[in-house]
Amino acid sequence: MSTCRICEGPVKEFLDLGRQPLSDAFPEPGGTEGEFFFRLAVGLCASCTMVQLVEEVPREKMFREDYPYHSSGSSVMRAHFEATARRFLETELTGPDPFVVEIGCNDGVMLRTVSDAGVRHLGVDPSAGVAEVAREKGVRVRTAFFEEATALDIAATEGRADLVYAANTLCHIPYLDSIFRGLDALLKPDGVFVFEDPYLGEIVDRTSFDQIYDEHFYFFTARSVQAMARGFGFELVDVERLPVHGGEVRYTVARRGARTPSDAVDALLVEEETRRLADPATLDRFADAVARTRDELVALLERLRDEGRRVVAYGATAKSATVANYCGLGPDLIAYVTDTTPAKQNRLTPGSHIPVRDPEAFSAPYPDYALLFAWNHAEEIMAKEEDFRAAGGRWILYVPDVHLV
Ligand code: SAM
Ligand code: TMP
Ligand code: ZN
Repeated sequence: MSTCRICEGPVKEFLDLGRQPLSDAFPEPGGTEGEFFFRLAVGLCASCTMVQLVEEVPREKMFREDYPYHSSGSSVMRAHFEATARRFLETELTGPDPFVVEIGCNDGVMLRTVSDAGVRHLGVDPSAGVAEVAREKGVRVRTAFFEEATALDIAATEGRADLVYAANTLCHIPYLDSIFRGLDALLKPDGVFVFEDPYLGEIVDRTSFDQIYDEHFYFFTARSVQAMARGFGFELVDVERLPVHGGEVRYTVARRGARTPSDAVDALLVEEETRRLADPATLDRFADAVARTRDELVALLERLRDEGRRVVAYGATAKSATVANYCGLGPDLIAYVTDTTPAKQNRLTPGSHIPVRDPEAFSAPYPDYALLFAWNHAEEIMAKEEDFRAAGGRWILYVPDVHLV
């Protein structure tokens, strides 16, 4: 049994996804020797209910100069973050000389709108490559890991912030005690911390076990976030469900007593209690469903191979590392994966070593089947790739279960 990273309570493991590579490290063909592997397993804290990985991957291995994920690669996500920025500009950032800090600003997908509005901002991101792309958009960025020391330095040099925001980043950070001490130093007395991450409730509902990979250390719920915030002297004051990335929740936390919690917080807490989201039995059933998905997907892909069908995959997502390595998918079952990210192209998928090719390869000629690894962008991709289905191609999805479209 391991120890909770938040409250030091006992963590009971409920799902083991086996030996896994870094999800965002794409080796060159012939360069697969020194690949890093770790044991990807998830557990539930019996005290604070935080669901978390049981093994931690060193942060410098994941978030590097050449971190390949660019947030602006999806038009839906660009629109989502532009709307988010506009909302902040109309709500939290209306006082005199407002200041917003974003943890994990990546290529500036959210802060570019804030910068264009002339509002004081600072992005913090350790991945130098994406940070440079953000700077080219006029966004101010510090290439650093956000933690207590970074926050103290920002507060000292730039003043306190009205808003600290983190999208798809807080769940990547095991050391949340340091983050909350930093927030305490950086936020104005009435300032808020807003963060959005994949929601455990959706992961369980959709059996989307591919949300579990090295970078996703925590799987939040309203209950676990409320317990965590209280433990660090803050309070969960609002929650909002978001449709992006397969279903997320946006949490707002403030200093204790600074804001009145909204009805939405209670409503989500009651919903989680009613459906027994933090019950070991619920998570054991989820683990059984994951194994079923694996068995059905492997059976389908082996049948298609035996029938001589041409099968490729679409989107070399970080999530797909978990699927490919847990299910044992390799180039014998999937000819290649197509992806728009130049830094992933002409390389191999982590651990499973399937070649990654550019989007032009997809139609030259179209395959019989395409396994949609980027299922969270299904609407955008299926609309863009209408001709694939018109040519007789079928999509294979494994969320919420294995099916063809
Ligand atoms: N916010 C963007 C979005 O939602 O698309 C980027 C999300 S990306 C999955 C996670 C980002 O967090 C990466 O750019 C990574 O470099 C950054 N990151 C990881 N640990 C961090 C830390 N301690 N402080 C700041 N950024 C961090
Ligand atoms: P994500 O699910 O973590 O956002 O990653 C999506 C991956 O899929 C990323 O590598 C970019 C790729 N992608 C495409 O190849 N084509 C597309 O149309 C979209 C939206 C993403
Ligand atoms: Zn705990």
